[in-house]
Amino acid sequence: MGQAQISVYSAVKAFGRVFAEGLWLELREHGVDVLELVLGVTRTPAMERAGLNMDIPGMNVADPDDVAREGLEHLGDGPVWVAGGNYQAAQKRSGFPRADKVAGAHEAMKRMLPPESGK
Ligand SMILES: NC(=O)c1ccc[n+]([C@@H]2O[C@H](COP(=O)([O-])OP(=O)(O)OC[C@H]3O[C@@H](n4cnc5c(N)ncnc54)[C@H](OP(=O)(O)O)[C@@H]3O)[C@@H](O)[C@H]2O)c1
Repeated sequence: MGQAQISVYSAVKAFGRVFAEGLWLELREHGVDVLELVLGVTRTPAMERAGLNMDIPGMNVADPDDVAREGLEHLGDGPVWVAGGNYQAAQKRSGFPRADKVAGAHEAMKRMLPPESGK
């Protein structure tokens, strides 16, 4: 989804989805697996550096080793695999109308960001 302050980052994720889908179609006849692995919130060094609050009650936070293992187990289930039990959330966020979805996710993201960056 589009996200404030990290618009280019978000747009690269959209590119990755479409690129993976095209490659999956092109390469499957050659026996090559292509998978876009979609993560939920994952406790990685990048997230720690960003100072994200990952201890919000009810938030689904994954361990990087589990996400990597799940991705490898589902290499043949492309073009897209949503890891960490986030399939329904991803499905919901992919719907329409976009204004409601994007603004709702923005509010949720503000709760995770450090106070000075949560505008
Ligand atoms: N963590 C989350 O909650 C989350 C959620 C959704 C999506 N993602 C996506 O998951 C991916 C990994 O994120 P992360 O949280 O694991 O980030 P991270 O902790 O910063 O790890 C990034 C990894 O990429 C490697 N890397 C960076 N630049 C590279 C380059 N030019 N060539 C080869 N390797 C390079 C780094 O290697 P070094 O350690 O050697 O620098 C590091 O192992 C990203 O695409 C991110 O957008 C993460």
